[in-house]
This record gives sequence, structure tokens and C-alpha cells, in this order.
Amino acid sequence: MPLNPRGLSIKFVSSAAEIFKTMTTQEYIEQNKDRFLEELFDLLRIPSISADSAFKGDVARAADYVAEKMREAGADNVSVEPTAGHPIVYGEKIIDPSLQTVLVYGHYDVQPSSPDHLWETPPFEPTVRDGKIYARGACDDKGQFFMHLKAFESMMKTSGVPCNVKFMIEGEEEVGSANLGDYCKANKEKLKCDVILISDTAMISNDQPSLDIGLRGMSYVEVELTGPNIDLHSGVYGGAVGNPANILATMIASLHDENRHITIPGFYDDVVDLSDAERAEMAKAPFDLGEYKKNLDIEETYGEKGYSVIEQTGIRPTLDVNGIWSGYIGEGAKTVLPSKASAKISMRLVPNQDSDTITRLFTEHFERIAPASVKVKVTPHHGGNPYMTPMDHPAYKAAAAALEESFGVAPVPTRSGGSIPIVALFEDVLDTKTILMGFGLDTDAIHSPNEKYGLFNFYKGIETIPLFYKHYTS
Ligand code: BES
Ligand code: MN
Ligand code: MN
Repeated sequence: MPLNPRGLSIKFVSSAAEIFKTMTTQEYIEQNKDRFLEELFDLLRIPSISADSAFKGDVARAADYVAEKMREAGADNVSVEPTAGHPIVYGEKIIDPSLQTVLVYGHYDVQPSSPDHLWETPPFEPTVRDGKIYARGACDDKGQFFMHLKAFESMMKTSGVPCNVKFMIEGEEEVGSANLGDYCKANKEKLKCDVILISDTAMISNDQPSLDIGLRGMSYVEVELTGPNIDLHSGVYGGAVGNPANILATMIASLHDENRHITIPGFYDDVVDLSDAERAEMAKAPFDLGEYKKNLDIEETYGEKGYSVIEQTGIRPTLDVNGIWSGYIGEGAKTVLPSKASAKISMRLVPNQDSDTITRLFTEHFERIAPASVKVKVTPHHGGNPYMTPMDHPAYKAAAAALEESFGVAPVPTRSGGSIPIVALFEDVLDTKTILMGFGLDTDAIHSPNEKYGLFNFYKGIETIPLFYKHYTS
């Protein structure tokens, strides 16, 4: 080895392949940062809205793009697998069947962007402002699962991956993953793994990483009340004929009592109450109520009596109207007694509530409380059971070690209010636990106008994921 004048050895490299080998994964990430972002932008430009059939072609295009990037990153057997709905993108790198296998799950579909006029820049024209990427799907979940493809590419181009990796990126998460369960059942062997790793949740802040150890489950129903067989003149008939809009409002209001407890009989029967010690542990997570209210521009919160905000969203079930419609909502005033009134209602569930049971309890109760002057129809939409990650799982410990190494601060375990209904199903069908290593923030406005994802979070995720593999395999 030749010596330079200061006596230090100088390495000569002869080819591009050699350069890669001498480069660390983190150096590769640093050198390819701009391209990673450009490639994410290309994905964000595709309006892959799974809920709206008008975008079916775009959803398919997004799947093809994900498959292309997966292949380029170095995955084998990459395929776009059709389902009765939107396709699933699968790929893998099996380096040695005797090593552990990590299955990375994510979703390339996004929520509708509406109301579009509230976006400062168009939802499918990604723009960086103040160090944040603004676009529908920036955080949920394109920006987050894309970190895994780029971390994988960075490992493949440098040190290699230390264990087997499988990718399953679906296109129906935002509409309830209706076809993923069947896909998992039909592909148990192919999807076999030691742990499932997902980045599709949030952490406390950029200075305080956290790991979600709980996801709420979900029962989602649509209700329709029908009164008279046609819309009526509200003067000629009003006062004698039941107004489905009035009645729906009364019925929905009766679903909570004055303490904001849900009144459906049996609703809380299976809810696991936390011990005082567990609640005290939860209360240690940093949370600023003043800032929370200020961010939302609300004077006061409005939750179940006897529980903190962290508990109300983390360990308690809820019932919320997501949409409600009836009668005349056009310009001006029309006097009408509507024939029908409808609402979409979601219930967030906690351990050990069961989605099918809750949907049945809701349906029976809602039919029972309806007055005879209306007919009731309850249609279940999607559902899923709540999930808890065991903190003694080796992959949980690896994720915690990776975050601590990356942020210089140990992560706090949290329980998030959101749902990824398929996670409980992964446990049932694949018998595998899931680690939720999300890099978003609650303020990223997922599902809202001006959704964003920090450049810091995107790059921090790409840097942290290889550390997860390192800690998991060492
Ligand atoms: N990524 C979210 C879930 C989430 C967000 C979990 C933040 C934890 C923190 C996911 O894409 C989502 O929006 N899920 C839906 C459920 C689905 C059935 C529509 C939800 O939670 O409403
Ligand atoms: Mn998501
Ligand atoms: Mn979502």
C-alpha cells in the first residue's frame, strides 16, 4: 500500500464495482439522496386513489412503477399480482433459507385528495416547502414504504442484506385490504417470514422517536333511514311524517351518553382495562395538550370522561360519524322533508374487541332504537381487529436499538389511534408478529389537504432501516 507524505495509506480503486464495495451503506445513501427523492416524486405524481374506480388505471400504473423500482433495487421474483381489486406487488431477496426473513409490508394506494381547493399546491404535483414534501401519499404511505426500497437498494449496492427480505406492497389498504387476506391464505408458504416490518405510523417528534405497539381495530358501517317513499313538501307534511334526517340525528346522538361513553349494549364487554401502572407508564410519553389544541384551533377536547387524550385515542374505543347526508344541500333554501337520510359510521376498537361482534351489536342496536316511522338499513363496510406488538420480540428490540442509534435517543412505546386492519390478520393467517416502525408525525395531515412528509423523516428512515437489519441479525 503506497504511503502519502503524511504516512497514511491511500486506497486505489480500479472499477465502479470496487468503489461500491469500499463505500458504506450510509455513504451510498448520502450520494444518492437526490435521486431517491426524484424517484419518490415520480411515484407521488401517480394518483393511485383506490377508493375511486375512475383511477383504476393510475392505481395499476403505480403498481408497475413500484415493481420496476423493486427490481432496480435488487429484488428477485418481482411480480405484480392481480387480485379481484387492485394488484399486490411482491418481490424478494433470499440469500440463505437458514437465515431470518423479514417481510416488509406497505401500501401504494392513497386516499382521495378532496377537497382539492384547500391544497396550497396540487395534491399530485409533489413540492418541497420548508423542508417538507407536500403531496397526497407523501407520508401515508408512499414516502414511508419507499424508504424500505431505497434502504434495501443501498444495502444491496454496498454491504449486502444480512438476512432474507420479502416485500409485499398492496393497493387496497385505504379501502380495507379486502383482497389481501385471501392472497395471504393462498400464499402462506411464499410469505413465510419471522417478522413483518411496516412503516405506516407516526412517531412522537423528530427529537423523540417512538414505536407503535398498538393499532386500533375497526368496524365501519353505513346506515340508511327511509321515511316516506318520496321527498315531501315540508309544510304540507311536516309535523306529521317522520323526517329521516331529524330521526337519524336523534339516533346518532343517542349512541353516546353524557360522559361520552358509547351506549350500545355489550360494546365494552371485551375491552381490556389497563392497570394503573400501565396507565402511569403511558402518561410518561411527552404530550403537550396546549399545543395539541392550538394546532387544531379548538378551545377544548371532547373525549370519554375519565381518560387522557393519549388514552382516548390509544386504549379506548370510539364511534364517529365520517359522513352524513340527506335532503337539500344545494345553494339557497329548498323546503323539503327528505325521504332518506344516511351516514357512514366508524368504530375504532381496542383489545380484545372483535370487529364482527361489534358490527353485529351495532346493527342490532341501531335497528332496535329506530322508531316505526322509518325503515333502517345497515350495511357493513370494512373491518379489522386491534393489534398489539409484544415488546419482548427480538425484532421490536432491534427496531428500538436502530432508532436509538439513529436518533441518539431511545424510542418511547406508544399506542396509536389509527388502524391497519390487515396486521391482526397477518397474525391469524401467517402466525407472524408485526413491528410498526413509522417515521411520520401526527401533524403530517394524512388523509387531509396538504398532506406532507419531512425530508428529514424520509432520509432518517432510509438511514435507520439498515440499522434495524444490523441489530436484528447480530
Ligand atoms: N397509515 C394509516 C394508519 C395509521 C395512521 C396508523 C397513523 C397509525 C398512525 C392507514 O393508511 C389508514 O389510514 N388506515 C385506515 C383504515 C383503513 C381501513 C381505511 C384508518 O386508520 O382509518
Ligand atoms: Mn397508511
Ligand atoms: Mn391511510
